[in-house]
Amino acid sequence: MHNRKGKRVGIVGAGNVGSTVAYSLAVQGACHEIILRDNKVEIAKGKALDMSQAAQSIRSHTVVTVAETMDQLKDCDIVVITAGSPRLPGMSRDDLLLINAKIMKEVVQGVKEHSPEAVIVVVSNPLDAMVYVAAKESGFPLNRVIGMAGVLDSARMAHFIHEELGYGAGQIRASVMGGHGDDMVPLPRYSTVAGVPLADVIPQEKIDAIVERTKNGGAEIVKLLGNGSAYYAPGKATSIMVDAILKDTKQIHPTAVMLEGEYGYEGIVSGVPTMIGANGAEKIIEVTLNDLEKSQFAKSVASVQSLVDTLNKNNFFGDQ
Ligand code: 2OP
Repeated sequence: MHNRKGKRVGIVGAGNVGSTVAYSLAVQGACHEIILRDNKVEIAKGKALDMSQAAQSIRSHTVVTVAETMDQLKDCDIVVITAGSPRLPGMSRDDLLLINAKIMKEVVQGVKEHSPEAVIVVVSNPLDAMVYVAAKESGFPLNRVIGMAGVLDSARMAHFIHEELGYGAGQIRASVMGGHGDDMVPLPRYSTVAGVPLADVIPQEKIDAIVERTKNGGAEIVKLLGNGSAYYAPGKATSIMVDAILKDTKQIHPTAVMLEGEYGYEGIVSGVPTMIGANGAEKIIEVTLNDLEKSQFAKSVASVQSLVDTLNKNNFFGDQ
């Protein structure tokens, strides 16, 4: 396998999210090397220098470099993929799906060739469908193809819980399952403040409002920023998952994975609690859901399935 010491993390797509992931890992000294890959090579080089210098300033050993081509993204332990087109005026959701699926396909073929042992962490949207594409196109064991969304969505929910309570920051455990879309499934029943169930400290109608705001958490920031989407929390959430893999923590994080019978679904991606370690999603945890939660999860799975159906209708996987 690797004839070198030290961990190497590749990041494809060095825009706001990719850069924030890299910066967070670099100033943490999370790994030996971070390699940025972006079509805007000069900008990536500038960011890599800037981040390497930030790492020096805090005496971190992490160095940030640039891969000018995919073949330089070599022997990575983890490859984070944030590459994708943002939604432009006049584009349908399906247009974005097909454009980003093509980008994902190309990137994953490069990862397969040059970092065949990597864990792939997908961040591009539409998230769950992109994890599906990465899983199909890489042919990697499914534990090595995971998507980041639930860590972000549950952090958003935790923040909204704190806003409502006015106390407990840092002690809130919020739980969100399902796809990273309008049908995501926040789970107040599995959310606590220092172990205290949410229902004991927040009235139901306020909990309902928190659930709705969590579902629209990304859109709320898009609207405020005016020219893009969130990146601090998405970047940090991704770096948390990367760090769990690098350190083999075996901690539980909500993760988008291809289900193989868990929760009663097969061959479709959704967000579920998983144990994360050196081999990626090493174990899927099956939480007991009540009837309402089950039906919400089913709806979320169905909307991811409809995106996969669109890819199939367009013969996306046809040339295999
Ligand atoms: C977010 O939730 C756009 O998926 C991105 O912020």
